[in-house]
Amino acid sequence: GFKSRVSVIGSGSWGSVAAKLVAFNTLNLSSFHDEVKMWVFEETLQSGEKLTDAINRTNENVKYLPGIKLGKNVIADPDLDNAVEDANMLVFVTPHQFIDNICKSLVGKVRSDAEAISLIKGMEVKIEGPCLISTYISEQLGINCSVLMGANLANEVQDVEGVELCGTLKNVVAIAAGFVDGLDMGNNTKAAIIRFGLREMREFCKLLFSSVKDDTFFESCGVADVITTCFGGRNRKVAEAFARNGGKRSFDELEAEMLQGQKLQGVTTVREVYEVLRHRGLLELFPLFATVHEICSGCLPPSAIVIYSEKKNIFP
Ligand code: NAD
Ligand code: 13P
Repeated sequence: GFKSRVSVIGSGSWGSVAAKLVAFNTLNLSSFHDEVKMWVFEETLQSGEKLTDAINRTNENVKYLPGIKLGKNVIADPDLDNAVEDANMLVFVTPHQFIDNICKSLVGKVRSDAEAISLIKGMEVKIEGPCLISTYISEQLGINCSVLMGANLANEVQDVEGVELCGTLKNVVAIAAGFVDGLDMGNNTKAAIIRFGLREMREFCKLLFSSVKDDTFFESCGVADVITTCFGGRNRKVAEAFARNGGKRSFDELEAEMLQGQKLQGVTTVREVYEVLRHRGLLELFPLFATVHEICSGCLPPSAIVIYSEKKNIFP
């Protein structure tokens, strides 16, 4: 009978985890082909070896997920067209800033009956309206696209807009939390910032999509992901360093130095969120988001994050 074929588009740290889990499942399910192709944005390692070759030789993503065997049935492929050929299930898992180019080059290349799922936390928040990554993939490629994200599996959640916006906006709250850590302001302040952050997340989601459900914020993709990202994530980590340096070293510079090729998404997101709020005349209602952007862009010092706490909070 027909066997499904899964390809993973993306091979950063989360992309590699996704490929490993998918490959474990395809091996154990007779309705799937064993092999899982993983598209790799090709690069040359310091050793001179191509990343793709190193992954296929060692069965590990030596750069983005070292020390973890992916499973012999994961095949790294630097050719995007080749990686998706014949696949009827596509897992998208790249930093959101690259999805535009990837989708454009995939137009006309994927099977018409393919189904997609996006694990991407981020989106383009444009003045004319937000563009969900899942919607973008769906429209560009003419296929269905679901979303899966959270601090762990959140597949019971149906509220696509709410889930994807939570995954996007938590990166902004993580930056605020990182500033608080970098300023050594303690856990009470950090908890307050996280609480205000969640509140602004909820109000911003509702502003864009009236359909977003309150319950979504209590799911894994909401409060749980905010907690994990504000304590263990990369946005938090780099924001802490930014604050410790008094804002004198840019996020780009710190990202390159501290993350070895991994990508931050919160700084881009908060810039777009700020533009949307400014355009709608709503910046005053979102002092945390506004302040995070003003700090990231160098208009305010990192310590301005506490001035936020002194402003009257608008949402109950
Ligand atoms: P990463 O930050 O670990 O790695 C960056 C990736 O981007 C690498 O694969 C690199 O090759 C690739 N890249 C660099 N330049 C590129 C370009 N011009 N075009 C295309 N690709 C390019 O990536 P990640 O953590 O796997 O993130 C993928 C998605 O997963 C993101 O949306 C992220 O929010 C989400 N996510 C990450 C985690 C996590 O803990 N890492 C957890 C949940 C969700
Ligand atoms: P960072 O991108 O800030 O590392 O967060 C990872 C994440 O999404 C945790 O759920």
